[in-house]
This record gives sequence, C-alpha cells and structure tokens, in this order.
Amino acid sequence: MLTEKELLDDLKISRTTLWRLKKRGMPCIKVGSSYRYDRTNVLQWIDNNQDNGYPTDYFENPTISENLELQFPYNSQKLQPQKIKNNYKITIPYLLKHNKEHLSKLLTIEEFNELQIKLSKYVSDFQGNEAVKIFTEKYLSILKKRYQNEYIENCDIKLDKFLSSNNDLKVIWGNCLIALRKMKSESIHLMITSPPYYNAREYSQWENLTSYLEDMRLIIRESYRVLDNHRIWVFNVGDVFDNDNLKTKSVWGKRRLPLGAYFIKIFEEEGFEFVDDIIWDKGEVESQRHKNGGINYPFYQYPINCYEHILIFHKHRLDTSRIPCPICGSLNVNGNTQSEIGIQSWECKNDKCLERSPHNRGKRFSLRSNMMQDMAKRTNENEIDEFTLNKWRRDIVKFPPVIKIDHNGNNRVGHSAPFPKDIPEMAVKYFSYDGENILDPFAGSFTTAIAAKKLGRIGIGIEINKTMFESVIKKRVLEEFNGKTKLEEFSL
Ligand SMILES: C[S@@+](CC[C@H](N)C(=O)[O-])C[C@H]1O[C@@H](n2cnc3c(N)ncnc32)[C@H](O)[C@@H]1O
Ligand SMILES: [Zn+2]
Repeated sequence: MLTEKELLDDLKISRTTLWRLKKRGMPCIKVGSSYRYDRTNVLQWIDNNQDNGYPTDYFENPTISENLELQFPYNSQKLQPQKIKNNYKITIPYLLKHNKEHLSKLLTIEEFNELQIKLSKYVSDFQGNEAVKIFTEKYLSILKKRYQNEYIENCDIKLDKFLSSNNDLKVIWGNCLIALRKMKSESIHLMITSPPYYNAREYSQWENLTSYLEDMRLIIRESYRVLDNHRIWVFNVGDVFDNDNLKTKSVWGKRRLPLGAYFIKIFEEEGFEFVDDIIWDKGEVESQRHKNGGINYPFYQYPINCYEHILIFHKHRLDTSRIPCPICGSLNVNGNTQSEIGIQSWECKNDKCLERSPHNRGKRFSLRSNMMQDMAKRTNENEIDEFTLNKWRRDIVKFPPVIKIDHNGNNRVGHSAPFPKDIPEMAVKYFSYDGENILDPFAGSFTTAIAAKKLGRIGIGIEINKTMFESVIKKRVLEEFNGKTKLEEFSL
C-alpha cells in the first residue's frame, strides 16, 4: 500500500486525477487522517477511466474489493439513489410536448404525423410508466419501419402476410436463402438451427468444402438482416470426418473438418458477435468406427465424433438514433461510449427525471438493457425453470442424440439428422420472450418449431426437401399436439 505522495510520484499522475478517481468510487484505506492506496488497483482505475466514461455498470454494481476497507465515497450520504420528487404528471401529450424539439430533428414530417396518429388512441388515459412505455414503443416502431423500408421492395407481401398471421406453427417449403431474401428485415426474434453438415448425407452434397461454406455464408449474411437487433442465433454443428475435396478427391484426403471453427469465422465476417460455445457431449460414439480401428498399435487412432458445438452468436447492429429514457421518456439524452460493441448506450439529461445515480448522474440505458430490464417481460411464461438452469449451468452438457433406428430396424424420422429437443428448448427459454417468432432455416423434422410452439412462441421452419420431410413433419405435428394444431404451409 502506498501513501498519497508515494503514489503520485510513482505513477506520475496529478492530485486532481487522483481526486477524480476517488470521487468516482476508487477504494482506498483511511489511516488516521491520511489515505493508503493499492497501486495495481489505482492503475486499473486509471485504465478504466481514460475516456472519461465510467466502468460499465458501475452505478448498478459497485465492485467492492475484499481486502480494502472502503472509505470514500462509500461512507457518504449519497449512496442511495436519489429520487427527485415527482410533482408533474407524465402523460402522452406531455411527452410529445417535452420532446417536440428533438422529434422535429429526428423524424421527418410524415414520420412525426404517423407517431401522432399512433399515439392519438392513448392520449389522456395513460400516465407515468405506462405513458413512457407506449410513447417509446410507438417511437421505436417508427425507427424500425424506417430501417425495414430500406429493403422493403425485395420483400414478398404474401410471405409477409403468412409470417404475420395468428397461427403459431408454420412451414415454408423451399430454399432458405430464397425465403430469407423475401423476408422483412429484423422480423425474427431468435434463430435456432443445425445446418446440413458438409457431405454428411446423400441429400446434402457439395463439390468441395469451399463451395459448401460459401453457400452457408450467403444464408448467414441474409439471416443477419432478418434477425432482430440485439438478438441471438443458436447454431448447432459438429465436426465431420471427410475429404475437403480441395487438393485430392481420394479417400486419403479424409480428415477432421472442424466445421464449427469455419462457421465462427464466417459469422464474425458477416457481422455477428461470437459469444459462446457450449459443447454437447453426446456420450458414446454413434458410428461403428472406433478410435483404433481394432488395431491396438500406434498411429491407428482415427478422429471420432462424440461431441458437437452449440455456438451462440449475437447480432448487435450499431444504431445511434436517440431513444427515450426508460424512466421519464425524455429524448434529452446524451450518447455514451458503447457498452458492448454495437450497443449504443445513453444517459438521461432531463433534470426532472425520476432517477439519479448515487453520484447524481442521469439514468444510463441502451436498447438492450431496456429490453432485459423491462419488468413487464418478467412474467411466468418467461421465467426459466430451475431444472433448465441447472442442466445448462456448465459449458459442457451431456444428453443423448436422437436415436434414429427403432426396435424394428426402421428409420423413425425419415432420412433426417434430427437434433434433440434439448437444444431448441434451452435456446427458446434463454433467448426469447413469450409470443416471439422463432425461425429454423433448416427445419428437417421440425424439432425447433415444435419446441417453440410448446413454449408459447411462434415456431417457423424452412425446409427445402418437401418430398422427404412433408410426411415426417405432418405426422410429428399430429402426434405432438394430438391433432389439435394446424400447420400453416407456404410454398416458395
Ligand atoms: C441437419 S438437418 C436439420 C435437422 C433439424 N434440426 C431436425 O431436428 O430435424 C438439415 C436440414 O436442412 C435441409 N436443408 C438443406 N439445405 C437447405 C436449404 N438451402 N434450405 C432449406 N433447407 C435446407 C435439409 O433438407 C435437412 O432437412
Ligand atoms: Zn430520464
């Protein structure tokens, strides 16, 4: 621990810098009338505060170092968030008036009129939180429409109508690249899939690995547009043991092809953030091939597949359009540093706002934090059960693959490679809200869509091979829902 003088001499920082860091909450120990500092800790604080921003989430979760006795400013009276007295009423007309100047700069006249029309239904009855929510929702819907309009000429009106109908189980027969190209931007809330693995089945063959990956890239690129902002794609893929057909076409070209690794690079290049890789431990090896090929001597060890990847990708399209403060609905907000790549963070500057931090800073928020902290979304339907949380606590999770052959030796689910419902169940619960659109572009035997519907979401699948999967899917839907559910179909 260093005294103030030792610290200033050592780190060559000014007294004012040190004072600023302390004011921002940097811990130190009081000894008599002077202070002692932990050098490494101070260096960290200098690092974190270089851009004059505050460490992320600092106000919500002050990190309290275990070894340090906190003196300044934790012992001050300011610790409790200050509430400013609410002596005015937030209503929709109030918000329109309060935000008029900003709205006139942010929206075109047509957009502003559209906003007024959308809000006119609610005018007098709503106050406080409710008014802020409605105002924000309608304002954001205008911004979203603006973004969607950039692509709208390519969209298929009939497909759009099909996708926005009330039915909660839908299949699109056709090539997913074509379907995605006809879909509205940011109209899907979650994507879950297991793609065709390179040359793993007789119906999914490519000339070589590069042409396979290029085909997949186009689909990933289009998905980025169609997936809603700040949302997720859960992508299950295993490695294959095969020939990449790039140098030789003979059997000697066979090796482990790490499809997961190739996909991560493509997803990143197409704009997604790679966030997680959960290993699905499939237990015993399915195929007859075993590690030594029956010869217990060196160099006879072949790659086997007893795990697959469950890759988690986020879409964060940076949108710097001003959004209202979730507490007071004001558009008088300042842009802060991005809290994560692609997530614009804001700070409320309205001096009448109801919430201030302990350090008297305005409410800090982003589109993503508003979504995650929306109390109206914390319903029973969206609560993740303890069983699921426990099962997926680690990043290696063991559960069996779907057994394809029944006791009579028949293939139970056609020639598909169904993935177990454990994956879409986890994905739907972890990354979507009740009533949202869940899409599997490689639907196969429809596992994703069925799991989504069972969890109160809208299950949508795209499948190219109608001949092989029509009867499989229809039979499964009939069995899973006791004939009580209608599968809506669309052909491209
Ligand atoms: C690995 S399987 C998916 C398995 C699926 N998750 C399940 O549980 O059944 C891949 C599926 O994608 C389909 N497929 C391949 N290319 C496609 C494309 N371009 N568009 C739509 N479906 C495609 C295949 O016919 C196959 O059913
Ligand atoms: Zn505010």
